[in-house]
Amino acid sequence: MRGRFFVFEGIDGTGKSTQVRMLAQSLRQRGLDVVETFEPSDGPHGRRLREMFGRRHELTPEEELALFMADRLDHVERVIKPALAAGKTVVCDRYYLSTAAYQGAAGADAGEIIRKNREFAPEPDLFIILELPPAIGRARISSLRGEEPNDFEKQDYLERVAARFAAFKGGNIVRIDAAPAPDLVHARVMTAVARFLTP
Ligand code: TYD
Repeated sequence: MRGRFFVFEGIDGTGKSTQVRMLAQSLRQRGLDVVETFEPSDGPHGRRLREMFGRRHELTPEEELALFMADRLDHVERVIKPALAAGKTVVCDRYYLSTAAYQGAAGADAGEIIRKNREFAPEPDLFIILELPPAIGRARISSLRGEEPNDFEKQDYLERVAARFAAFKGGNIVRIDAAPAPDLVHARVMTAVARFLTP
């Protein structure tokens, strides 16, 4: 039996990684075998992308998109497909809607990005888009992580990325307000995934 596949998406500072952890933990408590994973991945292309975060201008938008796509292909083949085929539940921090939103906001054709990804990337049971005004996301990054926002996190760019996340349509997309406390957001996530947990 193919396992379930849940993806968290949204702009930076929405608390995705906290929600990934909380969902994975709740699913394990229900006896599921859960693989927690993330993109950019820890494979060679993903590591290269992370190295470039502070100096994004050194890559052309085309090179950057190619790296995100190469990383996705690697992550799909190495981590996601084997886990799903083994009946495991996969919880992933970012996936192809991030490419459509971020690289789309940087000038690429988002429809084309989605089409190309669907040729090789398993479709999630559910995309959970965490929503937060970009200014609040940025404030969370600066105050909680004590970090300066990186090149992906500049205000006007994030506004455009957020607008793209707000516009995606699909039966497997749910949007959840990321402003409340993590426990409350998690409760809403559990409500959203509940229908996939009955055998
Ligand atoms: P993020 O998950 O925020 O990494 P971290 O947990 O280390 O902060 O991802 C890093 C950045 O990568 C984020 O700003 C969005 C960007 N990104 C893209 O532009 N396109 C993509 O396809 C993906 C997966 C991420």
